[in-house]
Amino acid sequence: MLKIVSVVGARPQFIKAAAVSRVLRSTEGVKEILVHTGQHYDANMSDVFFEELEIPRPDYNLGIGSGTHGEQTGKMLEAIEKVLLEEKPDWVLVYGDTNSTLAGALAAVKLHIPVAHVEAGLRSFNRHMPEEINRVLTDHASDLLFAPTKTAVINLRHEGIPEERIKLVGDVMYDAALFYGKRAERQSQILNKLGLKPKEYILATVHRAENTDDPVRLRIIFDALCEIAREIKVVLPLHPRTREALIKSGMYDKVASCICLTEPVGYLDMVMLEKNARLIATDSGGVQKEAFFYRVPCVTLREETEWVELVELGWNCVVPPLSVGEIADAVMSRLGSFSGAEENPYGDGHSAAKIVDYLINTGK
Ligand code: UD1
Ligand code: UDP
Repeated sequence: MLKIVSVVGARPQFIKAAAVSRVLRSTEGVKEILVHTGQHYDANMSDVFFEELEIPRPDYNLGIGSGTHGEQTGKMLEAIEKVLLEEKPDWVLVYGDTNSTLAGALAAVKLHIPVAHVEAGLRSFNRHMPEEINRVLTDHASDLLFAPTKTAVINLRHEGIPEERIKLVGDVMYDAALFYGKRAERQSQILNKLGLKPKEYILATVHRAENTDDPVRLRIIFDALCEIAREIKVVLPLHPRTREALIKSGMYDKVASCICLTEPVGYLDMVMLEKNARLIATDSGGVQKEAFFYRVPCVTLREETEWVELVELGWNCVVPPLSVGEIADAVMSRLGSFSGAEENPYGDGHSAAKIVDYLINTGK
């Protein structure tokens, strides 16, 4: 029996793990042990995904919660190590670029347990982002690196990662979008609930530390969204980090009066909001790609993006949040009829199956 410990902890990891876990659990001779670090813990940041996406209950919930980077990552490292000593798996599988990813990879590699990284090779080349540090360190600790795109493969080669460790498998978020997209159409009531008509609103999300923790950027982004909201409705499911930042800066009430703020929504509601938006403005990695999966134009509120293909294909435009006018202009100029190139750099929707094949066959 091949034993795989999957480590997850934050919202986007539940969605990625849902796609892989479904294949793992339907494969004979494979046993998955799911570890939830507890990095995200509110019901609408965690439980809702387990329920909607039918992810099995975690075998371990480490309940780590929030904290500074060192505190959070350190507590995870200690707790994951205990699980690994107990379970002695053949592989540890980690996802993306959060503190949970790095803690899982580090705990495993120090115990000489092989590590596989889903979404390897993404780079912003911006070392101020906590995610960039997590990605680089996780990739260099990993034995199997599952790259979602050709760009990711090239990035890994440039860093001298041995070729035999790098596997181009496509993007598991595309698998998830294909699998759950139709279910969202059937089940989600979010458009009715929020009184939205297809293509008559903009969907926005903001949660990156470099935007929420910089009061100037936070103000620019929300002033721009408020300006846009004078022309077209803006809907924004609010990440708890951003809620806190808006309250702390005294901006919350004003923002709530011009933008339709909601609690974070479940994945199926999010998919419906994305599919039916006229445009998406976001600093999220996952949401940028989902905009493309549903062929909705996207404005990325950051200095750069790891998902450079989206910009090359014309579906995404990166607007650093430095000027209210530039953000508003970029959004307003893309509200007319819009299309980018028809090419899909994210694989064939069977990335999870390829990952499971490699896990089974590597090292045999
Ligand atoms: C984390 C990841 C980020 C990812 C994002 C996905 C790191 C360094 N960052 O950022 O890469 O894009 O998840 O959403 O791992 N909070 C709650 N309830 C929760 C979770 C968080 O209130 O369930 C609040 C807490 O005040 C916490 C803050 O949000 O301090 C930030 O949470 P944290 O998990 O540290 O980072 P994210 O910003 O969510
Ligand atoms: N998402 C969601 N509800 C929300 C906001 C996002 O289900 O209210 C989903 C979104 O569809 C995508 C993932 O969460 O699949 C992206 O997570 P997030 O933006 O938190 O992190 P990132 O991808 O930037 O790391």
